[in-house]
Order: sequence, then structure tokens, then C-alpha cells
Amino acid sequence: MCGIIGYNGKENAIPIVISGLKNLEYRGYDSSGIAYFINKKIKIIKEKGRIKNLEENLTNDISNLCIGHTRWATHGKPSKINSHPHHVNHITIVHNGIIENYNILKEDLIKKGYEFKSETDTEVACALIDYLYTKTKDKLQTLNELKNYLKGSYALLILFDDDIDTLYAIRKGSPLIVAESETGNFVASDIPAILDYTKKYYLLEEDEFAVIKSDNIVFYKDGKEITKELLTFEHDIKSAKKDGYSHFMLKEIHEQPVVIKNFLDYYLNNMNLIPDLSHYKKIHIVACGSAYHAGLIATFLIEKYGDMEVSTFVASEYRYKKNFINSDTVVILISQSGETADTIASLRLAKEFNAHTIGIVNVVGSTIAREASEVIYINAGCEIAVATTKAYTLQVLALSLFAFKLGIVKKNISQEEQSNIIKEYQKLPLEIEKVLKVNYKEYAKKIYKHKSVFFIGRLIDYCICEEGSLKLKEISYIHSETYPAGELKHGTISLIEENTPVIAVVTDKNIADKTVSNIKEVKARGAYTLVLKNKNLKLDKEIYNDIIEISDLKDLALAILAIVPLQMIAFEVANMLGYDIDKPRNLAKSVTVE
Ligand code: F6R
Repeated sequence: MCGIIGYNGKENAIPIVISGLKNLEYRGYDSSGIAYFINKKIKIIKEKGRIKNLEENLTNDISNLCIGHTRWATHGKPSKINSHPHHVNHITIVHNGIIENYNILKEDLIKKGYEFKSETDTEVACALIDYLYTKTKDKLQTLNELKNYLKGSYALLILFDDDIDTLYAIRKGSPLIVAESETGNFVASDIPAILDYTKKYYLLEEDEFAVIKSDNIVFYKDGKEITKELLTFEHDIKSAKKDGYSHFMLKEIHEQPVVIKNFLDYYLNNMNLIPDLSHYKKIHIVACGSAYHAGLIATFLIEKYGDMEVSTFVASEYRYKKNFINSDTVVILISQSGETADTIASLRLAKEFNAHTIGIVNVVGSTIAREASEVIYINAGCEIAVATTKAYTLQVLALSLFAFKLGIVKKNISQEEQSNIIKEYQKLPLEIEKVLKVNYKEYAKKIYKHKSVFFIGRLIDYCICEEGSLKLKEISYIHSETYPAGELKHGTISLIEENTPVIAVVTDKNIADKTVSNIKEVKARGAYTLVLKNKNLKLDKEIYNDIIEISDLKDLALAILAIVPLQMIAFEVANMLGYDIDKPRNLAKSVTVE
């Protein structure tokens, strides 16, 4: 949430920061701003709305040091005054995170004579830095003391009016990377911001800070200088570009065959790297949003193949409930970004109870990846579209392999079955490619004008529906609900009117007849029914208006294939409605606040 970037180097920093902000816009996009030194004075330009609004207000200024911010509002509505950078006396900052005790600090700073223009917690942090700096007259001491005052999470870029050659960066709870190139040094919330210039970066850890000059970077922790390892971003730079596609989401959906193939090639040959869950008495899965839906699917797969009970929780609930966990428990945390605040809090809670923790993570070196006892990287490459697609399917695939491995370890899967399942997994890339050839506009046309859509399915099919429904609502703004197919008649069926779209997923043969009865119930009440099913399942033509067929894979692989048509339908519906698919309203990619 919120993207921040700074550059200090030989080049004009302003266009570099603007282009970095564009690459970070997925993190927040309700306002943006930059600050730079010109004629030895700080100049701030900020605007409500997208970065193009900010660009319209730029001049021909040239500066070698600039910081920028793209905002996802938390304290105070999106407005010019609430936008970052904020400036108080000698200090200018941009901030990602939430200062939880900002009210108490604000009261105290008002008593000390500070006045505030905005509703933000950031302006309070800015005033606090100014206060500490006025008191200590020492920049390093100021940064060192900051953690004693600020509660919550923050990644801060700081400029001091009396030090026009230096950029300061500090983090706690919100991510920051520091990068170096031949022409200068960068600091940013995430790698895509700097990829046009360099692949070499350092990860700033909790409570560390960096002093960034145009030609050198010094890191500190607890007042002492530290050395850090220079890392290299290994993925193809293309993964942060649209690469000929109209939208990142479309590109990322189409990348699924390749990333799935790579994942399978690696892990099917290294099954020893897949955690063995048989060591534990209790399995908990914790995540948010789509990652939670991936966890729901895993519940069924692990229970079926591993013969062990699994409980899956939404992280924002898990962190506050009684959990009955101990060293016999494994807690699996799923997160694309590895920075989701509630998932991180759940991880830390699980560790307090000595549970074994496994992170299923995409972003290398992210907080969950670093703090979990064990990490499985899904290696999806950069996922830029706010609505997750390829990371979600890889999360399901990783968990499917957990179930497969458990089935092998517990001897629930025979040798012969094992090789059949491997063959099924290996079919996935090709099967996804086939599914991607279908013209989904045809179905989207029948959905996009409606106010409400319902998704129904049973067991794993229900979980697939949950994800399909989330995809649709988050990018098309059409109200969409998911129900276990048998549950609709207990109230919600009253919402079915003539032509209300009902999308039914029927891939589980064992329960198909039951779902079919529920489809008939809504069809009889006038619904437009679109059924997603596997080829070998015979259905009476009467029950559907439209049908999408996918191949008849085993559930361990089928759960991955079945989501792809729903991703495409969501995309085509939102496209017909002309919405900004990669950056849906009110959302941001990485949810680093509670
Ligand atoms: C929906 C979506 C979100 C994320 C959720 C968790 O398309 O992307 O629901 O799945 O915010 O994010 P991560 O996986 O980064 O923890």
C-alpha cells in the first residue's frame, strides 16, 4: 500500500522518480507527489488522482535528488493536502504504512507549537522528525531515536533542508529496498520501481536505515554502521512490463502455462523440498483474499490425500482468536507479496506458540519469506495487476503438492497412482493454453449489464467459485456472491430474477448430481445459467444456457485449471465496462495495513 521511491545520482532525478512511481502505481493510486531540491530549496508538487495529473503540473526543473509517493489513503480522504510528500519546518518525507499512535503524538506536538495542515499520520511523523532533529541537531541520532516514538509500520524517505545531497531511508513493518546503478542510487518500496535502471539491490530489514548519497550508501542499525549483502533480481525484466498485452492482468493470466511448467519441472524433481506435513498433529492455513481461497482448496486436497484434518482461516480473524496451537502444529501462511499485515501478524503469533511456520510466498526476501521457519517460493515473477491470477494458481499448485507429498508419505497413494498424478500435473500447461483459446467475450456479454451475479458449487468447486466471484467483483464492480450450491435455497434464492447470471462450477463428479439439482432450482426461477464443467460429465441441456468445458483432470490438478475460465470472464466483463482493470478503485496490491 502506497509506493515510494527516491533517487540520488548524476541523472535528472525527476523523470526517474516519475517513471518509478508509474511502476509502483499498483500499490496505491488515489494521489501522488514528488519533492526535490532546486536552487538549494525544497520544492513539492502533488496532486489528487493518477500520476498523469501530477505530470501535468511538472516544470522543466532539473534536480539530482528527488523522492516520490503514490498513495492509497488511510488517514484522510484522497486530496492534494493529504497527499505526500509532507513538509514540516526543516523536514520533508514520504511514508508507506500506518503510525498507530499518531493521535497521541499529534496532541503532544501541538503543545510543543507544531501546527498541522492535513489529516494524515504522515505529517505527524514529519513533525516528530523535525522536533527530534531540532533537539538533537544530529541526523543519525534522530533516525535512531525514531523507533522509540513511532508505533505501527513505516517506510520513510526523509530529506533534511540543510543536507541537500543526501537521502535518508528507514523502515519498520513496511518494505524498502535500496538499489545501486552506475549513475546513482535508489530506494523504493518494491523492485519494479527500479528495474529500468538496475537489478542490484539491498533489502532493508526491520529498524535499519540507509544514508544514500549519489555515489555511496551506508547502512545503520542501532546506531552502528552495518554491511549488507548486495542481491540480484533474478527474474526476467520483461515480467514487470506489459510485453504487448493490453493489461498486466491479461498478460499474467497468459503467463500461467509457463510459470506452472517451471514450478512443476522444479518441484516434481525435488519433492524432498516440499514440506512433509505428517510430522504435525494439527495443520492450520492462514491467508487473506485470494490466498485464503487457495487455502480453502488445500483444505479439501490435504484432507483427502493426507487423511489429516486441516483448518483454514482468514488472517485478520486468526490473529485475534484463540487458536489452540503449539509445537505440534504447522501453520502455513500464504501470501503473494509476503508483506500482508494480517498474515505477518498471524505468522508472528504462531511463532510465539512455537508452531512450525511455512510461508508460501512470491516476493523473494519479503517479511513472511524471511520470518517463516520454512519458505516455498512460488516463483511467479512480478505480479503487477492488483487482482492476482498467476500467483493464486501457483499457490494452489504448491498446496496441491503438499497434499500429494503427504499422500505419498502416508502411503495413501500407490506407486501407480503417483505416476498417474504426475502425468496429470504435467498436462496442466497445455490444458491451460487450450482453455485460454476460448472466446470469453461471448459469456461476458451476457453478464456485464447485470447488477448482481451468483456463483455456486460444492466442496472444491465452491472454493473455486469464491475466487471466481472475487475476481469478477473486484475489477468489474458488479455485486457478486458465492454460495455452496445447496445453501442458496435457505434464503438467497429470493434474489434470483429473470436473467440473473448464475455461474455454476461442476468439476467434482462425486457431488455433481447434487449441484445439478441446485442449478435446476435457479434455472426454474429464470436465471441465466453458465456452467463450467469437465468434459466427461454429461449434463442435461435443459439446465444451462451456456457451457464451458475443461478437460477431465484429477482434482489435484483440476482445481488449478478450473479457475482460468473464471479469471478470463472477470477480465472480459470489466473490459466491456471500460474499467481500469489493472488498478481497480479503492484497492492496492500489497495490503500492509490492518
Ligand atoms: C485479489 C487479491 C487479494 C490478495 C490478498 C492477499 O485478487 O489479490 O485478495 O490475494 O490481498 O495478498 P497477499 O497474497 O499479497 O498476501
